[in-house]
Amino acid sequence: MKAVQVTHAGGPLEVVERPIPEPGAGEVRIKVEACGICHSDAFVKEGAFPGIQYPRIPGHEIIGFIDAIGDGVHTFKPGQRVGVGWHGGHCFHCEACRAGDFVNCSNEKIAGISYDGGYAEYMVAPEEALAHVPEALNSAEAAPLLCAGVTTFNALRHADATAGDTVAILGIGGLGHLAVQYARKMGMRTVALSHGPEKKSQAYELGAHDFIDTSKQNPATALQSMGGARIILATAPNSAAISAAIGGLGRNGRLIVVGVDGEPIDVSPLQLISGRHEVRGWPSGTAKDSEETLEFSALFDVTPKIETYPLEKAAQAYERMISNKARFRVVLVPGQ
Ligand SMILES: NC(=O)c1ccc[n+]([C@@H]2O[C@H](COP(=O)([O-])OP(=O)(O)OC[C@H]3O[C@@H](n4cnc5c(N)ncnc54)[C@H](OP(=O)(O)O)[C@@H]3O)[C@@H](O)[C@H]2O)c1
Ligand SMILES: [Zn+2]
Repeated sequence: MKAVQVTHAGGPLEVVERPIPEPGAGEVRIKVEACGICHSDAFVKEGAFPGIQYPRIPGHEIIGFIDAIGDGVHTFKPGQRVGVGWHGGHCFHCEACRAGDFVNCSNEKIAGISYDGGYAEYMVAPEEALAHVPEALNSAEAAPLLCAGVTTFNALRHADATAGDTVAILGIGGLGHLAVQYARKMGMRTVALSHGPEKKSQAYELGAHDFIDTSKQNPATALQSMGGARIILATAPNSAAISAAIGGLGRNGRLIVVGVDGEPIDVSPLQLISGRHEVRGWPSGTAKDSEETLEFSALFDVTPKIETYPLEKAAQAYERMISNKARFRVVLVPGQ
């Protein structure tokens, strides 16, 4: 099969021929229809995640058809269309799993990190990582929902915000452009924080009620002039940009961090205490969360805006994402 691998940390995305993998017990083989390129694939490319063994095929926004199953697979059958996201499997035995809290499994597997992912014609995944995909969704458009979608949908639906609350989305990229659509469709007053006239008109098209241009306005002051945000969902992988927005939280406001930067976020105790603010992070979600994301997206017409590329152009496609040129998610489509 054709696949795209990172041979060593910091190396390029290389197109290679690999044997078609065989599913082991409890696993299925998926013929990949589409795989989104997430900013978190940079962890694999640059070796910035602990324990990655190379060569590794990245990719954790996968949609495909099951074409073979291993022993002991009971819930899924060949021919079914499924999705796989970041949360690529759990152990069922640790304390978190025994409490049904699979996303906090202490032996969590991550698709495209712990095992080879979706930048390939075929991949193998454990049964518990599979989400059913509603028929109404097109495979290439559904793929980004498996990470960018579930992460923002899940963070927002557990955010303790309600209809009419102000939700600010910081960074309008792969995650952010879906977060704007979800916040709007969940009934929240949706404010996009980005920069430039192009992103401004795109943010309004996606459903934002307001736009704050962070290159021209102080985001904290601008949000306060709107009454303060109940939630700031930070998708920008930049701690300085996140720190600059925290002052925009209203009383009891909560910062939810999903974007990853190596630098610390600056927040003063007085700021937290006087506003009764909270800061928390959010990891993506389980296969069940992905199914609920896919169903909500089909029902409420939340659709990722995508650019598609064949596997052979993976390096070029990744470059579109990492240089913030993609509008808004790059998706690899084998055989395109
Ligand atoms: N928590 C989780 O479970 C989870 C899941 C998926 C991804 N992530 C992380 O979330 C982040 C976003 O992922 P993505 O796939 O949406 O990335 P993306 O498509 O590259 O979008 C990121 C957006 O953030 C803004 N941005 C990028 N670089 C920036 C910088 N240096 N300073 C300020 N803003 C910057 C840009 O938006 P503007 O042009 O609008 O400023 C950009 O479009 C990444 O760090 C990724 O690793 C976390
Ligand atoms: Zn991701």
